[in-house]
Amino acid sequence: MTPETRTAALRRGWYPVARAVDLDRPQQATLLGRRLVAFRTADGRPRVLPDRCLHRGGALHRGAVIGDSIECPYHGWQWRGADGHCVYIPSNGSSAPIPKAAVIDAFPAVERYGLVWTCIGDPLTGPPDLPELEPLGMAYAAGDPVDVEAGILAAMENFRDVAHRATVGDVNRVSATVDQNTSVSGTAGRDGSPGWTAGFASAIEYGPHQAQAACFAGEGRNRLQGSTSSMTRP
Ligand code: FES
Repeated sequence: MTPETRTAALRRGWYPVARAVDLDRPQQATLLGRRLVAFRTADGRPRVLPDRCLHRGGALHRGAVIGDSIECPYHGWQWRGADGHCVYIPSNGSSAPIPKAAVIDAFPAVERYGLVWTCIGDPLTGPPDLPELEPLGMAYAAGDPVDVEAGILAAMENFRDVAHRATVGDVNRVSATVDQNTSVSGTAGRDGSPGWTAGFASAIEYGPHQAQAACFAGEGRNRLQGSTSSMTRP
């Protein structure tokens, strides 16, 4: 698989680009090399657009939300979140027609599990859905974002391969055997030479009232901004 093929495939997945709690103002995100802005419209809908104004390249995440659009901080052009159309050009006046070419990409935006998810390609599936968790009565929240120096494939592999934590590298402490029937906790950490698994730490707690998970991975080829998630019974 070539890097181009891999990137094209990755673009068809769904990824979180902002925490729902942060959308009181526009948030910048970089996803697979694409700079994005996530914002919440006046009626509460999450939207995701490119973080680059089509006019002269203004950074939209520095702009203000006006109704269902975001206003570029440079010359005030307003871009509608639902479809990326420019809806207002201040220097032309409100009665002037908007040029047909004044439209930018608009990406799907779904708020779920405390995060705003988007897909910047042709989605292979619907947005993430975990109906199995509904009966548990969990409330979702997102933890603090963390920057990880790792390629996205390495990060995904690391998060999913929990079995390696006890044996790979310089394990500092392992004190848990996860037993879903009892409250347990565990920590495993590793410091070492640069590489795609140069750092990994995790803390997991399961109990009758709380379940939390937090992970981060270390140095590597790319910089990702991710966020940890927690689930708490109300
Ligand atoms: S650069 Fe955005 S309105 Fe001019």
